[in-house]
Amino acid sequence: MKEKIEALKNGALKELNNLSKEADVLNCKAKYLGKKSELNDLLASLKNLTVEEKKVIGPLLNETKKELENAFNNKLTEINNQINYNFDETLPVCSKTGSLHPVTIVAKEVTDIMKRMGFTVVSGPEMETEYYNFEALNVPKNHPARDMQDTYYLDNGLLLRTQTSSNQVHAMQKYGAPLKVCSPGRVFRNEDIDANHENTFFQIEGMVIDENISVSNLVYVMRSLLREIFHQDVKVRLRPGYFPFTEPSFELDCSCLICGGKGCPTCKNSGWLELCPGGMIHPNVLKESNIDTDKYTGFAFGLGLTRLAMMKYKINDIRVLNNGDVRELGQFGIE
Ligand code: DAH
Repeated sequence: MKEKIEALKNGALKELNNLSKEADVLNCKAKYLGKKSELNDLLASLKNLTVEEKKVIGPLLNETKKELENAFNNKLTEINNQINYNFDETLPVCSKTGSLHPVTIVAKEVTDIMKRMGFTVVSGPEMETEYYNFEALNVPKNHPARDMQDTYYLDNGLLLRTQTSSNQVHAMQKYGAPLKVCSPGRVFRNEDIDANHENTFFQIEGMVIDENISVSNLVYVMRSLLREIFHQDVKVRLRPGYFPFTEPSFELDCSCLICGGKGCPTCKNSGWLELCPGGMIHPNVLKESNIDTDKYTGFAFGLGLTRLAMMKYKINDIRVLNNGDVRELGQFGIE
């Protein structure tokens, strides 16, 4: 009996020694230590032995069982350790990190600055009614100003908003006056796409309504905003403009940062970029929201966030921003 047990043990250890795969070791372990193993049969047959025999064979069987269990478990640990450490831990896990989109970075930056300047952030729908996008802004049907913004009209009677100005009347009707809000968002125009034009881009609207608000307040806020955005005094110029929802209206241009004012395709060789149109809110727009025009005046402006991102990152083709090519967009990093 003793020899049989010894031979069984040696046979198991020899077989185990030749194995290197986890699955093979587990099979071998089942063969020698499982329910249907020879060792188990021997343990079960202990009861048929004499008391004297039991005293010798019993401990021997238990010891053998323990020894084999240890051998199998050690082998399994050894194999698992090899698996875990069989790679170069110094290799970087991923060579590229993700990054925010340049327009997202700029939109957040400008919104944060405006929040610090006391503006509350409001939002409105991208799918909008003609009323909020045009009529409430003093642009009735057949008004020639509608041609300035080629519009996507939807089958459901709505349109894709062409400007964040659509949020002006929403905000006035919701909060009344006095009011100081900004509203960043995506806008859509049926434009032919080229290096300077996209059918989808981003703006941020600013609007202040209070007593005694004048053009000086508008110019002061726009200049302060640009200084904060560019971390420097940027050269700006104010020109008369035309928008049905402001009177008087202005165009605030800033010196083109892509070419340094020398002239390039982005600024149409003028050295200037239209960046921030605005003006004093037309009384018709205020009246549309039941704001007392004897008491309150206000200004509004619309800053082109996409254009700002192009200037900041010196991107001279607007299509880069919408083509989803991470090789181009990824270079701007997370700020
Ligand atoms: N919504 C105009 C546009 O997209 C820009 C604009 C002009 C916004 C004058 C204003 C404003 O708030 O007062 O072209």
